[in-house]
Amino acid sequence: MADAPQRPDLDTILGADLQAFVNNILHEDGGIDHFRQLLSDDQISKLESRRKLELVTRSGVIFTRERNISNILETTLNTARNLTNSDGGTIYSLEEIYAENPIDPGEIASRNLNFVALQNETMDTNLKGGDIDMMPPVPLEIDGKPNLSNVSAYCANTGEMLNFDDVYDADGFDFTGTSSYDEANGYRSQSMLVIPLEDHENNIIGVLQLINRRMPNGAIGGFTTEDIELVQSVSFPAAASITQQRMINEQVNLFNAFVTMLAQGLGEKSPHTYNHIRRVAALGESIAASLSNSDEGIYADVKYNSDEMAEIKLAGWMHDIGKITTPEHIVSKQVKLQFVMDRFEMIIERCSSKMKDYKIEMLQQQLAASQAGATESELLALRNECDNKTSLLEKQLEALFKANRGSEDMPKEQIELVMDLASQSVEAFYKTEVIIDHGFPLLKSFALEPHVAPLIDDREKSNLLIKRGTLSDDERDQIKSHADRSWRWLMELPFPRKQKRLPLYAGAHHEHLNGSGYPNGIEGKDMPMQARILAIADIFEALVANDRPYKEPMPLSQAMNILGGMVKSGNLDGELMKIFLQSGDYMTYAEEHLNPEQIDDVDIDAWLEAYYVVPEPPTK
Ligand SMILES: [Fe+2]
Ligand SMILES: [Fe+2]
Repeated sequence: MADAPQRPDLDTILGADLQAFVNNILHEDGGIDHFRQLLSDDQISKLESRRKLELVTRSGVIFTRERNISNILETTLNTARNLTNSDGGTIYSLEEIYAENPIDPGEIASRNLNFVALQNETMDTNLKGGDIDMMPPVPLEIDGKPNLSNVSAYCANTGEMLNFDDVYDADGFDFTGTSSYDEANGYRSQSMLVIPLEDHENNIIGVLQLINRRMPNGAIGGFTTEDIELVQSVSFPAAASITQQRMINEQVNLFNAFVTMLAQGLGEKSPHTYNHIRRVAALGESIAASLSNSDEGIYADVKYNSDEMAEIKLAGWMHDIGKITTPEHIVSKQVKLQFVMDRFEMIIERCSSKMKDYKIEMLQQQLAASQAGATESELLALRNECDNKTSLLEKQLEALFKANRGSEDMPKEQIELVMDLASQSVEAFYKTEVIIDHGFPLLKSFALEPHVAPLIDDREKSNLLIKRGTLSDDERDQIKSHADRSWRWLMELPFPRKQKRLPLYAGAHHEHLNGSGYPNGIEGKDMPMQARILAIADIFEALVANDRPYKEPMPLSQAMNILGGMVKSGNLDGELMKIFLQSGDYMTYAEEHLNPEQIDDVDIDAWLEAYYVVPEPPTK
């Protein structure tokens, strides 16, 4: 009689390396099955326990580290299926949709179970993410009543677990979807376990459904108490991890929305300021992405992860937050004479009065002349003289209209014009001033004794003589102070550890590498990359913007030359400008935001030849 085959001694075969063996077979699909025939029941049981422990441990590590909620849910489904040896499964997340009701902001309009992952080994199905968007969500209420006919909805509504040995024998639930799926695909759904995913406050956040538990002999069996406990050993930590991640996401979303709302609030006063902020944030993000993707040049090693990218974008959204307290008539000062409102109208009034004075004077002269026996032509000469003076004043007013608009460099003849008009006077009987009434500008006139007033008063004169743009020195200082405010205010916020440098990134957007910027005059290596990026985005946006009330849109090539000059003079980072140009980010931006006539040719090689200077890299 032949000897019965000897069972191998697992410990002897594997020696001290049992751990490696277990790890190896665990990483193979059906690894344990290959050895099943060779091993004793006790050995199989030990390996199964080891496998399950490993699965639970691995999922725990993922739950701790993973931040994507869909990935956490998918891991939960994978692990639960592996632990119970289920053929298929589905995992849903519970979504609450709020009604937009200002009287009851927390009112829930509807609740659904959304498919996150769906797997079936026999049917070779593994759907998740975008693949699954076509699956309609399962409503938790139908016609205002809890949906108790669908097993997953029942589980989510009641918090009860459901366990069916055979769904075809189950009463009280609608399995028509399951049976039509079976019929269409030649499948047979049998055992089913439906478990709620509950957070630490017993709120249901999702549902896990497992189908067809395969027994060692290949037959389908019902889910056991041990199966349920094993699944719960994964579903509880998964729910805790999801809840924690949701809370983090909610805080981050709330903060981001708050920052956006502040910028929008600023936009209520000055729409172009809001547009500027939003565009600088997007531009900063795209320059940072191009920098991070570039493997060439002195910044080849600079790489940003998603947190760092989000930080740059947020710094962009916050960079001009200090403008909230800058008066609107300064932020949006369209013309030089705008102190709260444009005073050009008042100069027109004075000039009209002056023209009437010319006429009165002329009529008085004609009367006197005709009484003295003047000829027709002498009287006409007096009239012509008056007409000439009137017409000259009209022309001067026209020219003054142009001088009132800002320019890059005020022409000499405009300066002479202002001086000339300021030296002339007119008889006045009242004085008009702008007052602020309940936040709105109002013109208020005061009656005065007849007096002689200049055509252009001292304040108007000094504003009209602004050589560049429309802002006086004092107004320019008020605008500049926004950078200091942005910086100081942001320093007051208790940013999380990872974003402690954000106030610097946002606050330093007007700083220059050569120390000539403001508000703190930081320079060189102290100027962080993120602030250098925002500095470029900030100036580029301002130069090419086509929605500023005080300036004409600038062609792309001219803006690049101005930025080039700033690189050459050591203000801006040349390497970042090179990346900005070579990545094509500037063109993508131009196509989206600029007028077609602004988009002209930028010769990148010539630009680099003319302006590129190697910058001093930042230390942090
Ligand atoms: Fe700024
Ligand atoms: Fe800005």
